Amino acid sequence: MELKKVRLNFYKSEDTPIVYIHGSGGTGKVWAHQLSAIGGYAIDLPGHGGSADDESISTVEDYARHVVEFIKEEVGQAYVAGHSLGGAIAQTVYLMAEDVVRGLILVGTGARLRVLPELLDGLINDFENTAKKLVEMLFSRNFKDEGVKRKTLEEILECGSEVTYRDFNACDKFDLLSEYKEGRISVGVPVLCIVGKDDIMTPPKYSAFFEKTIGARVVEIEDAGHMVMLEKPEEVNKAILEFLEI
Ligand code: COA
Repeated sequence: MELKKVRLNFYKSEDTPIVYIHGSGGTGKVWAHQLSAIGGYAIDLPGHGGSADDESISTVEDYARHVVEFIKEEVGQAYVAGHSLGGAIAQTVYLMAEDVVRGLILVGTGARLRVLPELLDGLINDFENTAKKLVEMLFSRNFKDEGVKRKTLEEILECGSEVTYRDFNACDKFDLLSEYKEGRISVGVPVLCIVGKDDIMTPPKYSAFFEKTIGARVVEIEDAGHMVMLEKPEEVNKAILEFLEI
């Protein structure tokens, strides 16, 4: 099937060749700290923020096809940074078009991203309350900035029930665990994993798995949960900048 042409909105700072992909129910704004300190292109996935939608999307591969097009058209070749669902998309972009990928920066993500069934159900049947509960799960208990949490909730609500459900459902179906385990995926570019030590959505063992199977460099960050790039921006930026020196 031919890919529907979708104009993706993106936030750009300098020409740094990094393309940042946000997670479920989010937008490119989640990378504001990385854009200002490091630069790059933070996209809004189809159906999110300022991007038009492609209603035929249902899987990580469907999203990845659009990201591959974006990289080819806007950047040429890039480090692909992805958070959560965005990390699944980043891995898939590499598998689809390794020639456009200089390296992978996988933030709070994994090779398989199963989702709590009650979360999936709640996103359809009780969206507002489920979004509030979700936000409580996204941050470390030690993160006290209520303004950042409020903004995260607003983004999810703006994204809406349908698209947020679609995102989490795509995560739930994403599963490359056995491919990595059995050595059927080999990654020929440098890989950095960044994860909050208090992340309960994609726990540190998901990143440790990448260290074991593909030799990824792993940076675990204290007092941070799943939204590590918002919770501890300086530590995340330092990890990325050190990685880019490779
Ligand atoms: N990397 C390495 N190991 C992984 C993995 C990953 N990405 N994903 C799962 N595994 C491992 C688990 O650690 C587990 O190993 P164990 O049996 O030694 O404990 C095994 O694979 C099976 O885990 P999982 O696929 O998660 O299935 P499950 O039926 O045990 O649990 C959930 C399902 C939904 C309860 C669980 O995945 C969960 O709590 N998820 C986190 C919350 C959430 O919704 N996150 C959203 C992510 S976007």
